[in-house]
Amino acid sequence: PMCSSRELWGEEQYRETMPEREKYAHKGKHGKGLIIGGSSKMPGSIAMAAKASLKAGTGLLTVASSETVIRMIASHCVEAMYQPVPESDGYLTDDPDLSVSDYDAVAIGVGMGRSNRSAAAFRHAVQDTNGPLIVDADGFYHVKPLLDQLAQREHPTVLTPHPGEMAELMDVSIPEVLKNPFRLSAEFAEKYNVYVILKGRHTLITAPDGRQAVNDTGNPGLAKGGSGDVLTGIVHAMVMQEQGIFQALCNACFVHGAAADWMVENSRACHDLMATDVIEGISMVYRAIS
Ligand code: APR
Ligand code: MG
Repeated sequence: PMCSSRELWGEEQYRETMPEREKYAHKGKHGKGLIIGGSSKMPGSIAMAAKASLKAGTGLLTVASSETVIRMIASHCVEAMYQPVPESDGYLTDDPDLSVSDYDAVAIGVGMGRSNRSAAAFRHAVQDTNGPLIVDADGFYHVKPLLDQLAQREHPTVLTPHPGEMAELMDVSIPEVLKNPFRLSAEFAEKYNVYVILKGRHTLITAPDGRQAVNDTGNPGLAKGGSGDVLTGIVHAMVMQEQGIFQALCNACFVHGAAADWMVENSRACHDLMATDVIEGISMVYRAIS
């Protein structure tokens, strides 16, 4: 049954719901996460997602990518661990030995491209992940044939499309998505038992039961390649903190937008805001709002 509650998610909701770090916390408590992605033409996406995940609170992070990509990014994100996955023509292939089930949350798709050589990696992640699974970017191309399997997952699945990706997932036009974001997101979320984060100026978060929230933060400085990868990393971290999944997603969108807002108000302009600046801004949001 669909519920039709819609809310605006802003500072007040964030303050009320965002869990504090416990005094006796250890890294295991803040999540052991895995991010799978990257390709030789897009090595930066997974680097940004990884940095954002750690910055947003993940306790232990493993990045699974090709050796080529790992060589390119490891010095940019020294806090992560790296798991090399076989590659073919610069694209990831499946690694049957990658134990996706050992992680508290898995994010897959950023910077991966659309090679059919990567298809098995997605089937593997969808079947074996033992916690929240986050799919982004070219990952939608790969999970589209697996939507019925997503519906069967025991753990939450989170999709983070921009309107173009949502249109492609649903076989509708982009204007249709923009005209009916609430209805289309709710239909899709219910049909496939997924959480949908439909990104844009006002990002809309939808749960499979129809609950919806609109995020209040963000600015046009985010309209630049890489912002989406940063959001994926923050979502990945947030679903592993001690909070309900829906509020975790709302808080991830809040922090992403608020980090960009803080940077634009204090040390950047919309023109020069970089995705990596948004990662830096996460600190200011965490420090200023609690
Ligand atoms: N106001 C507020 N937030 C915005 C605005 C805006 N004007 N523009 C963008 N954003 C936010 C979105 O809400 C989202 O969180 O920035 C993020 C952009 O994410 P994506 O659209 O996924 O962009 P990104 O992945 O970084 O780069 C685009 O990804 O999917 C591919 O084809 C796409 O190659 C392109 C690349
Ligand atoms: Mg994107």
